[in-house]
Amino acid sequence: MIRKKAIIFGVTGQDGYYLTKFLLKKNYVVHGIKRRSSSVPTNRISSFLNQKNFKIHYGDLTDTSSIYNIIKSVKPDEIYNLAAQSHVGVSFYTPIFTANVNAIGVLSILEAIRTINKQIKFYQAGTSEMFGKTNSRIQSEKTIFNPQSPYGSAKVFAHQITQNYRDAYNIFASNGILFNHESPFRGDNFVTKKIVSSLTKIKNGKQKKLVLGNLYSRRDWGHAADYVEAIYKILQQKKPGDFVIATGRECTIKEFVNKTAKIINLKLKWKGSGLNEFAIDQSGRTIISVDKKYFRPLEVDYLRGDASKAKRILKWKAKISLDDLIKEMVNYEKKQF
Ligand code: NAP
Ligand code: GDD
Repeated sequence: MIRKKAIIFGVTGQDGYYLTKFLLKKNYVVHGIKRRSSSVPTNRISSFLNQKNFKIHYGDLTDTSSIYNIIKSVKPDEIYNLAAQSHVGVSFYTPIFTANVNAIGVLSILEAIRTINKQIKFYQAGTSEMFGKTNSRIQSEKTIFNPQSPYGSAKVFAHQITQNYRDAYNIFASNGILFNHESPFRGDNFVTKKIVSSLTKIKNGKQKKLVLGNLYSRRDWGHAADYVEAIYKILQQKKPGDFVIATGRECTIKEFVNKTAKIINLKLKWKGSGLNEFAIDQSGRTIISVDKKYFRPLEVDYLRGDASKAKRILKWKAKISLDDLIKEMVNYEKKQF
């Protein structure tokens, strides 16, 4: 049997883990790209490292030669680009690096596909951050982009250059426009992981306090395991295209905190407002406070996705509820003690 070959840029990240697991189950040979790091970058994917259908290569999206050489030697059927400097807040501190990876890196992959083999299918990991400041109460593939960060701006370039290469060179190049998706394997400095990890530790006497930024932005949160299935389906269509992937439900950061507290049976009472807002536990101890340092120079206040195109064409919808996602994240955190 001839197995399909996929390259995953960003294999060491949250989605890289879930997509690798998914494609290995589908009998793919998966070639993951990791970059050089002073610490072990393959913690999430350690369970795949000894599997014969999983190969790992050194590469970096800022190194065009590495991208070209890997694609030329692997001869993949599909390329999934999940690699990015993916933290919106950090993109204000490292805007040029963010643009080099998230925008120019994508162009480098597309150029390699154009020159090596135009039959390779390409997936680009686009984001709801591209909508940015929007008046639309629910965002679809037709909603205008108005990014509010170097991260979002670079992703708009990546989205549009992917469309350009699709139209100009007839390459099967598709964009996902994924809303926030989380899991136990989420990076530590994203808000859901930070909240779940901190509150679980506070409940068990292993941490004193959780300090957050803006409590009132709204996000549409799904589970990464559901979302990589959509990513796969996007590349299995007859025609390339762009797809919003979301749950259609949203809540504030504060509501996420309250849900998590309820699940771990931690009683919270909120007091104050603005930068002086805080929450106390049953004994009156302050366990949550707000600090300006976690605010961004610009905020995206409201994201809620309309995934009806994905439902109609991909036959995809989010299956895992937010409560079940939080429960899974809490259980994972408890096992880390
Ligand atoms: P993540 O956990 O931060 O993973 C990002 C991956 O990109 C990591 O493997 C990282 O490697 C790699 N990477 C960073 N810079 C690189 C470079 N210069 N060269 C090669 N690889 C590099 O992000 P994620 O949550 O899995 O998200 C996957 C993709 O979807 C990202 O492009 C993100 O922007 C996008 N996205 C995510 C969400 C979400 O809610 N999770 C929503 C919409 C879109 P290291 O492990 O070495 O850092
Ligand atoms: N990270 C973080 N840390 N965010 C905080 C904090 C905090 O202490 N306190 C409040 N927030 C707010 C942020 O200001 C933002 O409004 C919201 O929580 C979510 O922040 P993140 O979890 O960092 O995610 P994000 O929405 O900015 O970006 C994620 O989702 C995008 C899709 O919409 C990332 O995964 C991006 O890569 C992805 O494209």
